[in-house]
Amino acid sequence: GTTHAGTTLLGDPGGVTVAVIGAGAMGRGIAQVAAQAGHPVVLVDSQAGAADRARDDIAATLATLTAKGRVTADEAEATVSRLSTLTTADMRTVPPAGLVIEAVVEHIDVKRVIFRQLEETQPPTTVLATNTSSLSIDAITGEATTGHDAALHGGVSPAMARPGQVLGLHFFNPPPRMRLVEVVTGRATDPAVLDDACALMRRWGKTPVRCTSTPGFIVNRVARPYYGEAQRMAAEGIADPATLDLALRSAGFRMGPFELTDLIGQDVNLAVGESVWHQTGEDPRYAPTAYQRDLVRAGRLGRKTGHGVFRYDESGTAVDA
Ligand code: NAI
Repeated sequence: GTTHAGTTLLGDPGGVTVAVIGAGAMGRGIAQVAAQAGHPVVLVDSQAGAADRARDDIAATLATLTAKGRVTADEAEATVSRLSTLTTADMRTVPPAGLVIEAVVEHIDVKRVIFRQLEETQPPTTVLATNTSSLSIDAITGEATTGHDAALHGGVSPAMARPGQVLGLHFFNPPPRMRLVEVVTGRATDPAVLDDACALMRRWGKTPVRCTSTPGFIVNRVARPYYGEAQRMAAEGIADPATLDLALRSAGFRMGPFELTDLIGQDVNLAVGESVWHQTGEDPRYAPTAYQRDLVRAGRLGRKTGHGVFRYDESGTAVDA
């Protein structure tokens, strides 16, 4: 049988280093959360300057929170002092950590290399997590040797030596504000690793929810018909987007499907939808709509381009909804 090394996640946070790989939108938010929870954090990126920019960005965010009275000046200073940065594309140079959270581009081959390099030099007790929103944990570890996973992700790859230490920690954007973390189990993930990861997420003030590694996990699967059906209704002229949003919002959803996809980015949302659709063997329940494809083709990506379903002014306020 396989023996598992266990984890060191639940020790005093000051003694449990968290390495965050990828200092983009998600990585910087995750690094902030970990540093605020008291961990020394190493922010790693392959692009020169990216990790330092992320650290500056976190410092600016904390300064804003201090000005608003939500974080004390001491706490902000201590948090920033826990953050260090490293520019490298070679994960074997990442210092030993109790937890590594990978948040690089959503490409299976890039992630596969990163996890194999981490495994070479990190201690056997280190937990290796991915923030992937659409890729299979088993395809990353190499446990996926049959079925859809293997076919979709280019066949059999050399399996990792310690897949028991690998899991998904799927944060939502922006990580400091969103409480949900989907804790995703792969075929080989050690149950003790899942337990400790859930306990750690609770310590970080998060709401961990366990799920298996299936396309879209929980939220990105359940939400597909929410977006898709609303888009089809708008395309059929049953009601306009502003009316559909008003109806759903008034029915108790936090945001309507159109304002929400404008916030996420129509391109980002379409990519997630296409991934779920392909991974389910093109199940029509998840089929991307012509409506959304047309938006993306027209460059109407949402708030970030000032025009998606709705138009936005400089301050990000919808001007025609
Ligand atoms: P991003 O594009 O903002 O940042 C990715 C960062 O990774 C960049 O700074 C890039 O330089 C760096 N990078 C790329 N290859 C690297 C390598 N080999 N080694 C080290 N660094 C590397 O991406 P974002 O949006 O932060 O997404 C990261 C991950 O999080 C993806 O897997 C994505 O699916 C997932 N995710 C994204 C969400 C979102 O709303 N943006 C929500 C939840 C998960």
